[in-house]
Amino acid sequence: MRDSASAPHLQGTLLDWYDRNARDLPWRTSPAQRTQGVRPDPYHVWLSEIMLQQTTVAAVKPYFERFLALWPTVSDLARAEDSAVMGEWAGLGYYARARNLLKCARAVTDNHDGVFPDTYDQLLELPGIGPYTAAAIASIAFDRPEPVMDGNVERVMSRLHAVETPLPASKPILQSHTAELTPHLRPGDYAQAVMDLGATICTPRNPACGICPWRTPCKARIAGNAADLPRKTPKKAKPVRQGTIFVAAREDGAWLVERRPDSGLLGGMMGWPGSDWQEHPTDATPPATAAWADVGEVRHTFTHFHLRLRVMAARLPANCAPQRGDFMEPDRFRPSDLPTVMRKAFDLARHVY
Ligand code: ADE
Repeated sequence: MRDSASAPHLQGTLLDWYDRNARDLPWRTSPAQRTQGVRPDPYHVWLSEIMLQQTTVAAVKPYFERFLALWPTVSDLARAEDSAVMGEWAGLGYYARARNLLKCARAVTDNHDGVFPDTYDQLLELPGIGPYTAAAIASIAFDRPEPVMDGNVERVMSRLHAVETPLPASKPILQSHTAELTPHLRPGDYAQAVMDLGATICTPRNPACGICPWRTPCKARIAGNAADLPRKTPKKAKPVRQGTIFVAAREDGAWLVERRPDSGLLGGMMGWPGSDWQEHPTDATPPATAAWADVGEVRHTFTHFHLRLRVMAARLPANCAPQRGDFMEPDRFRPSDLPTVMRKAFDLARHVY
């Protein structure tokens, strides 16, 4: 009898499962193409992997499709205006990704003739591509046997090997388990199969062990504690920061907006003028003299803190000369270009106009 926990057996059962159950995602090739060895377009793989960092598949799909419709090739994206790309990214969060996306598209176009390099080391040199993304692209787009470990894979490996050490201390052990299992045949499909297993069966709270292709060798299932793994070292509570933001329109409907500096939080994104965000807020200076009305508070959570923003709104006279910001004509202003926290402030303030 074959050992159900041997690497070849684990790889085989998972790939068989993937051939029958792979999620149909817009950056993937079809099952028929896969069995003929057709690889997905590296541009699609790269774009999807950047978008999927910290973001769910469901949230990414419409953005991915819109980006491809607007910029069908990496060279098209490289030629795009920065503000157009930042606007299309609005709502996805982690905006440094969008700035690096453009830098990377331009590096591929200028330094690699518009063709993505096909090795882990060369991919790692490109802007915004770290060890995870370099491995994912090398594996999925070029079928190189690079170990690919995201959050889903960490969970699957923790359970398969019953790793009791909590995250993040367990990452090196999980990385070595991931590497041991990465096959030389179809490594790209295998990497995506582990991700799909984690997303659809080996889920965080209620894993469906009964239908899992790895149920026999899974040590956590045998021990009966799959749902308790991976263990996690408790995170520090996030601090609360506060600030004030000013949403205003001139009599002719032009909005007083401000593009945020390229570096820092929401860098390069369109927003409203406002105060700094601090744990102990200081007085906020309005960007223009007007009868400002307090229209409420918006709350938003960033990676390292919770934010509470007091939203002030005003109508500005036709001859207004603001101390900060620029007026944007109503036909150029698209609320969808705003990052989510700025959009929340807009949604609150628009009711007073
Ligand atoms: N998460 C990150 N990359 C993915 C992929 N290629 N398929 C499914 N989920 C993913």
